[in-house]
Amino acid sequence: MNGIENNSSATQILSNRSVLLYAKQITHNFDYPLFENIELELHSNETIAIIGSSGCGKSTLLNILSSLLAPKHGNVFYENYNIFDLSQKKLLELRRNIFGIIFQSHYLFRGFSAIENLQIAEFLSGNAIDKNLLKRLKIDHVLDQGIGELSGGQQQRLSIARILTKKPKIIFADEPTGNLDKITAKEVMNVLFEYVAYQKAGMILVTHEDDLAFMCDKVYQINDLHLERVK
Ligand SMILES: Nc1ncnc2c1ncn2[C@@H]1O[C@H](COP(=O)(O)OP(=O)(O)O)[C@@H](O)[C@H]1O
Ligand SMILES: [Mg+2]
Repeated sequence: MNGIENNSSATQILSNRSVLLYAKQITHNFDYPLFENIELELHSNETIAIIGSSGCGKSTLLNILSSLLAPKHGNVFYENYNIFDLSQKKLLELRRNIFGIIFQSHYLFRGFSAIENLQIAEFLSGNAIDKNLLKRLKIDHVLDQGIGELSGGQQQRLSIARILTKKPKIIFADEPTGNLDKITAKEVMNVLFEYVAYQKAGMILVTHEDDLAFMCDKVYQINDLHLERVK
């Protein structure tokens, strides 16, 4: 992997080349136990949804899988690298270049216009903005507006465009269509699915909306501390 291949402490564990991410025996709790010994594998060209009732730990699990939160027990491997063993510098490289994390609240630069937000991603990643993507996300007509002038849904789609411009290998998305009407939500999901297929990337989506979840290849539910496969 670009940039982190020199890590000597990386544990060689994955033999199957199509496995992008492997979560092994993940256990976590805050005030009460959330999940125990969760196992999850994400392959390239695969989309996975995680569903479950509010407060069951979906966002917490996604934060762990995407390297933002160290679990109480267990490990997460990207390719051959145990991500919680990486140095801070390598971890930042992983987050910047390989993981695309779409949050519930979008982190856009508020002092800048929509297009400037995209140009920052273009500059940092060296990838050109895909004009067709902006059209499909229906934000091509608001590019000169300030972030504060955009609706919640437009901000959400802009942050998705920004993250796809980075060309991440894995998309982690927490309720990415939460501010959108049903039709726009489906269209945005289709953009994400096409991205995954075209780039041979992977996606882990957290949602409480079953119909969006079942558009994914596999669906898991957090139930009684365990991850139960429901599709
Ligand atoms: N940083 C934190 N500190 C303490 N408790 C937390 C923290 N993050 C989440 N929780 C608690 O963990 C539980 C699961 O939260 P979350 O993962 O956000 O659930 P979901 O996304 O399924 O709604 C909730 O009870 C929440 O209050
Ligand atoms: Mg949540």
